[in-house]
Amino acid sequence: MRKIESISSGRVSKNKENIISLLKNKNKSLPTKYLYDDLGSKLFEEICDTEEYYLTRTEKEIIDQYSMDIIDTSCAQEIFELGSGSSKKTKRLILNALENNDNVTYFSFDISAKALKMSYNQLRKISNKLHIRLIKGDFNNDLNILSSSKKNRLYMFLGSTIGNFDDIQAKKFLSDISNIMKENDSFLLGVDRVKDEKIIKMAYNDKKGITGKFNKNILNVVNKEYKLNFNENNFAHNAKYNLQKSQIEMYLEAITQQSIILPNKESLDINIGEKILTEISRKFSEKTLKMLFNKSALVPIKCYTDKKNYFSLYLLKAKKYF
Ligand code: AVJ
Repeated sequence: MRKIESISSGRVSKNKENIISLLKNKNKSLPTKYLYDDLGSKLFEEICDTEEYYLTRTEKEIIDQYSMDIIDTSCAQEIFELGSGSSKKTKRLILNALENNDNVTYFSFDISAKALKMSYNQLRKISNKLHIRLIKGDFNNDLNILSSSKKNRLYMFLGSTIGNFDDIQAKKFLSDISNIMKENDSFLLGVDRVKDEKIIKMAYNDKKGITGKFNKNILNVVNKEYKLNFNENNFAHNAKYNLQKSQIEMYLEAITQQSIILPNKESLDINIGEKILTEISRKFSEKTLKMLFNKSALVPIKCYTDKKNYFSLYLLKAKKYF
């Protein structure tokens, strides 16, 4: 097993106080990142295989079709994937980069050691000209301490994970990337597009109920992390589409009256029908993206899309070099 490099800007967040205030708030929420423990990551992989969840499948289709063009346009000698997960979608890109270069370095950057291991196992046998580096870090805090190199680097942020960020967080994340990019670097961003509401809603309400399991698992994760007493049987999965904000809002809705003991020993009553927000998943229009790129000092060079226009990959450059 290859060694995992750990980076951290040393910023410690006040986790306990944060969780208490999120739950005491009138609009209750839990930090989305707790959806992705080992079981959560496995359930997410299962979601990707459901009939209704078109995102992963469509993005992979686009990558497979345009991979060579992405590699040629970016002249990538290194690929740096943020939130790489299992790296299943990345293989084609790496193979094409190896066609153009004597050797290629692939950086897998993720918050989960398990995901880094999956990524390594997915890619290790590709070629001895592929150098793999596994970096454990948090892309919301640690981007500005990444080391750069003289090679042309292709940063990637796939899966429409950008959709989990509200406008301010998205702008900060994209600006961080634009800041660390050098002249010959590029950035490939995957985004889910605005489309027929029914199709979006179905993707987050699959018939087999896997998304529901995935959503409820967050309670077991915070139970462990903060010694809380949530019972997942007291909640129902509720994912609705907010048309005005063009976003899925995934909630856990209380189906019984209950009391939660908070980390400060305070007891919190939750009534039937009260909801806890666990994730937003934004769907992007051309107009929103243009504004977002502009505010983040990024310039789109190319946009790759599927036939139905469900999902897009943008190849971007840093505006400072124009
Ligand atoms: C991995 C964050 C892109 O928002 O579509 C899937 C997660 N949540 N089903 C998404 C998710 C519910 C997914 N992302």
